[in-house]
Amino acid sequence: MRRPRVRVSSVVFAAFAVVTPAVLLLIALTAFEALTAGIALAVALLLLGACGGVAWWVMRQLAELEARVEGLAPGAAAGIEGEAPGVFGEISTALDRQGRAWASERRALAAKESELEALIDAFPHPLLTIGADHRILTANRAARAWFAAAELEGRAIGTLLRAPEALDLIHRGLMHGVSGQVEFALPQNVERRLDAHVHPLAAAPGAGAHVLLLLEDMTAARRVERMRYDFVANVSHELRTPLSALVALIETLKGPARGDSEAFARFIGMMGEQVARMARLVEDLLSLSRIEMDEHVQPQGRVELAPLLRHVAELLGASAAQRQMRIEVKPAPDLAAVTGNADQLTQLFVNLVDNAIKYARAGTPIRVTAERATLGDGRAAVRVAVADQGEGIAREHVPRLTERFYRVDAGRSRQEGGTGLGLAIVKHVVSRHRGQLKIHSEVGVGSVFAVLLPAAAVTELKHD
Ligand SMILES: Nc1ncnc2c1ncn2[C@@H]1O[C@H](COP(=O)(O)OP(=O)(O)OP(=O)(O)O)[C@@H](O)[C@H]1O
Ligand SMILES: [Mg+2]
Repeated sequence: MRRPRVRVSSVVFAAFAVVTPAVLLLIALTAFEALTAGIALAVALLLLGACGGVAWWVMRQLAELEARVEGLAPGAAAGIEGEAPGVFGEISTALDRQGRAWASERRALAAKESELEALIDAFPHPLLTIGADHRILTANRAARAWFAAAELEGRAIGTLLRAPEALDLIHRGLMHGVSGQVEFALPQNVERRLDAHVHPLAAAPGAGAHVLLLLEDMTAARRVERMRYDFVANVSHELRTPLSALVALIETLKGPARGDSEAFARFIGMMGEQVARMARLVEDLLSLSRIEMDEHVQPQGRVELAPLLRHVAELLGASAAQRQMRIEVKPAPDLAAVTGNADQLTQLFVNLVDNAIKYARAGTPIRVTAERATLGDGRAAVRVAVADQGEGIAREHVPRLTERFYRVDAGRSRQEGGTGLGLAIVKHVVSRHRGQLKIHSEVGVGSVFAVLLPAAAVTELKHD
């Protein structure tokens, strides 16, 4: 606490101020000869001395009280200590008590404030408060990260968020005190969709108003919605074609072909094909969802690829022969085993070789090679490549080949009995095995579908 100080000039001034009326009275009495000048002077000096003493004492007490009141101010270093002396002691003690209560309230408020700040900062979505002048008052960490700025306070929201729908909502929140929500697109390299929620914070709209703005990135959610929608549309479309064919065949059998045993046999064969197509689609869908479900668990079995690839060639030998094609399997002699699931790896290579049979030129060979390689992160791996001599695939289609139902030539794929799910299954099997799929294709020359699978550790003997 600061030492109370009393200025001499203040004491003298106060003493003169108090004594002046009495001195005037003494002068008057002296003028009317009621008092002698000597007595009057002596009384005046006496009064002056007494008043000076009292003024000094009162001022000292007041100065001490002032120092104590100053000690109550937020951030005052010393605070108030000890029992206050003098006539103002009680006032001072009451102030002391009040000061302590205020100080503890201030500490509680500061703790609450920093807790609230931490909470707002931990909130994963951008959260801002905006003042009546459309400038940012506060922003949380997610907002700073979103707008890539170390400091957002004081910046106009219109310069950061170029979305008229959201700015209009903020304006209405500030001017009319209404809350609302709007979804809008931000034109960037890849379009992003955002949800803006606005809630007025100050009771009265207008000059002192401010609003809370919450931004939510909806891009991923909308993409998933779109994918779900596309998926259902694709499955329905794939099923509708064989179903319509079946309905037409049944109608023909009931009507014009009734009793015609030759037509009956032919149509039953065609119906079988359509049913098989639907069964294949359902089988592929189930298989895809099973692989996807286990995708986070890497299979732990040990698989020798040379016999597995020969088995695949045997399975598809007959359909290759139908197109006068030969499947050549050439594994390197020092081939390491891989970590994987034999059934899923068989399914993977059946899909790749089946594609080569379907889409390469009739009469050309299909080469399946396997050799040692390394994965991008340096792990030892085996690279299996299925190379064909076909029409090849134009560059723009390559990144999309592994999407469900994506076909370069849908008509041809359907004609071949394809569902458009083969490469999607390949992609998920490779991903479950923590491997890589690389597609290289040259129009007019052919395609190479290469799969890198992590090599099994030498001592590993587990089975998936
Ligand atoms: N070796 C290849 N040469 C040329 N095009 C290919 C080759 N492999 C795949 N494609 C193209 O990629 C598309 C997708 O292949 P994917 O295996 O996913 O489906 P699909 O073969 O049409 O049907 P499914 O494999 O389900 O029976 C094919 O429709 C085809 O257009
Ligand atoms: Mg296929």
